[in-house]
Amino acid sequence: MSEPVTIRFAKHGAAPHGILMVLTDETLAFGKATQAALKPASAAIARALEADRFKGKLGGAVDVLGPEKLPASRVVVAGVGKAEDLKDSDYLRLGGILAGRMPAGAREATVIVDLPGRSLPGSAAAEIALGLKLRSYNFDRYKTRRKEGEAEPAPLAVTLLVADEAMAQRAWSGREAVADGVILARDLVNEPSNVLDPPEFARRAEGLRAVGVEVEVLGDEDLARLGMRALLGVGQGSVKESRVVVMRWNGASAKSQPVAFIGKGVTFDTGGISIKPAAGMEDMKGDMGGAACVTGLLYALAARKAKVNAVGIIGCVENMPDGAAQRPGDIVASMSGQTIEIINTDAEGRLVLADVLWYAKERFKPRFMVDLATLTGAILVALGTEHAGLFSNDEKLAGELTAAGLATGEKVWRMPLSPDYDKLIDSRFADMKNTGGRNGGSITAAQFLQRFVDKTPWAHLDVAGTAMASPASDINRSWGSGWGVRLLDKLVADYYEG
Ligand code: BES
Ligand code: MN
Ligand code: ZN
Repeated sequence: MSEPVTIRFAKHGAAPHGILMVLTDETLAFGKATQAALKPASAAIARALEADRFKGKLGGAVDVLGPEKLPASRVVVAGVGKAEDLKDSDYLRLGGILAGRMPAGAREATVIVDLPGRSLPGSAAAEIALGLKLRSYNFDRYKTRRKEGEAEPAPLAVTLLVADEAMAQRAWSGREAVADGVILARDLVNEPSNVLDPPEFARRAEGLRAVGVEVEVLGDEDLARLGMRALLGVGQGSVKESRVVVMRWNGASAKSQPVAFIGKGVTFDTGGISIKPAAGMEDMKGDMGGAACVTGLLYALAARKAKVNAVGIIGCVENMPDGAAQRPGDIVASMSGQTIEIINTDAEGRLVLADVLWYAKERFKPRFMVDLATLTGAILVALGTEHAGLFSNDEKLAGELTAAGLATGEKVWRMPLSPDYDKLIDSRFADMKNTGGRNGGSITAAQFLQRFVDKTPWAHLDVAGTAMASPASDINRSWGSGWGVRLLDKLVADYYEG
């Protein structure tokens, strides 16, 4: 694993150690604490900003190397743009930008959280710390050697100097839980499928007991007894057993109806008998991104002791071609009793979710269900990697998810559902078929899921474009993004806690 980043807070005025990082706005002025720290070198720093034609924009930063009369070997001056417009998501980004300026092998840094003429919100330092931690994540556990001249990775200790240490520390304890949830999700997505198979996924989920999550693991026999034939059909060509994992965080009174999160956990998707082409197939190790998000979310909610009852259920299977594998034309009975004609064994995610959604609804009678799934390539065609597809039978839930998306930067875009799309999955031989043709592929997949949720308020997030292989951002350099943990944590925090 990449070296850990530890975060500490100290009061403005404390002596900085290591690389010194400071903030400025479009006026290129500094706050009082920053001015005091830079004083002996203020002329040199002003000259460096000038020489770089630095305008203090958010996203920009200048490195001042070895400034005379300062103990710091390097001062990084980062812009925040217009200071009065700053939102939490900007502080988060800023933390990422600062981490990006950290030279490889750096061991110590100090960030002065301070701007001219204003006191920053109590959340600012914690958001910056979250950005620092997420950007610093690097999945390198399978690298056994370094390139020539590459610095040895070292643990990094960052101290943030703030006006109110206790407030920053309190805000951070909640945000650190979220950071660790995102990192857990990223680790799961990045792991190769020979390591992370369904039983191993379940074992990692069992690790959540350490933060107070109740974890139940259902194996092949339990699933057969429950009648989850749609899910089991997907796994039947694999030598790996399937698993459904139920994770429960009880942070509210026992009377409070739970919220439920459901994840697609296909630990590898070859397509099965309807096998995928070879090019890019390695990416299908990430076909459990939905389940990774649900696991990371349950971790975050428990670690920050969210005042909510939350259930996370993941369906973990491996989709392989084999003598025992499911065939096109097969008909399976789902747990709901509805029958499904398999047209294409590569449309497997919806078969897994059909049984898990039904089970979640029947057992927990949740206030709502949100499922996440790397469900269709078609959602990448429609929305690229900028938004996840949102499908919902509930205006309120859809609105809340949209707002949480804008606040966190994990954005969703509403897609349609309607009886006319639903007709496209009627089958000649069974109650429905598992594909609806090429056109509107993400929509017919969502229509399929809707047949397993009844009247429960439900939202489906198609995360095929956002869970993995998304472009580098200020807060993520990893292939597995951990997308959705921050979004759903925000959904819970803003609308379902207390
Ligand atoms: N796991 C894939 C979808 C996917 C594609 C995820 C690209 C991430 C990146 C899913 O199981 C699948 O194969 N979907 C098919 C459905 C089709 C057979 C109806 C697809 O999208 O082509
Ligand atoms: Mn598939
Ligand atoms: Zn898949």
